[in-house]
Amino acid sequence: MRHLLSTKTITRDEAIALLDIAEDMADVAGREVKKLPTLRGKTVVNLFFEDSTRTRISFEAAAKRLSADVINFSAKGSSVSKGESLKDTAQTLSAMGADAVVIRHHASGAPLVLAQSGWIDAGIINAGDGTHEHPTQALLDAFTIRRRLHGTASRGKDLDGVTVTIVGDILHSRVARSNLWLLTTLGARVSFVAPPTLLPADTSAWPATFGFDLDTAIDAGPDVVMMLRIQAERMSASFFPSPREYARGWGLNDERFARLRADSIVMHPGPMNRGLEISSAAADSARSTVLEQVANGVSVRMAALYLLLSGDREDS
Ligand code: CP
Repeated sequence: MRHLLSTKTITRDEAIALLDIAEDMADVAGREVKKLPTLRGKTVVNLFFEDSTRTRISFEAAAKRLSADVINFSAKGSSVSKGESLKDTAQTLSAMGADAVVIRHHASGAPLVLAQSGWIDAGIINAGDGTHEHPTQALLDAFTIRRRLHGTASRGKDLDGVTVTIVGDILHSRVARSNLWLLTTLGARVSFVAPPTLLPADTSAWPATFGFDLDTAIDAGPDVVMMLRIQAERMSASFFPSPREYARGWGLNDERFARLRADSIVMHPGPMNRGLEISSAAADSARSTVLEQVANGVSVRMAALYLLLSGDREDS
């Protein structure tokens, strides 16, 4: 794998192979000595133009567990604030010998531009670009679902027939898009539930079903309910629904959580708005995978870095 930009182009076999490598990496994380020498001498740059807690830290932990050197770059406090372009930033990183660049950017398509530019000869990993994609989040979500369903017998398995209901701000969500492509490739059936104002105008090419009523979706008894963060920073003050209307109509509150099928799992990519899209009772319950998702993120990102940086990089 030369770059990891999108889940749309990942095949079922490629996805399963990456998840299986992540299982091996999770075994390493459970050991007393967590480090592997695999990427010794390689340099991974975390290039973050948007804020992040989980993704940036877990890429750093993943690279260090594989013995790579890590450079953390945040646009805040860098020469980007003086007007430096993506090209000049990339060429500066190239001059410093970056082997992989993990990029989060507010512009959809920025990782693809970097991968195709020729400004830098490095593997590019999309760590979230605008409203477009967040592929490693979807991979860690698939890994988490597979582990909850199959436990230690997960290797080699897909998600055939698993029902996943994704709820919330689909319009702005790169997590929703990456999960749609990956989960359906793995055989899951995806449905989206959202207020009409938080669904994209044209979803005709999306292999999913759509609804506006969360209560109906909960009573259908999905295997997985994935709550998304309301991206209030992308909405105006007069937006419908208001936070109060949203919580009442589309929040996973205590009453809805109590009605969920007893063995359904509750997911959230984080960061969470507790009391808005998810109650604390749901987020902190034994059925919640929120912290498992974070822990699994390190293993999945180790697998992605391993595939990008060990051996020959193939175009894909
Ligand atoms: N899920 C996720 O991308 O979280 P961060 O924004 O904290 O990286």
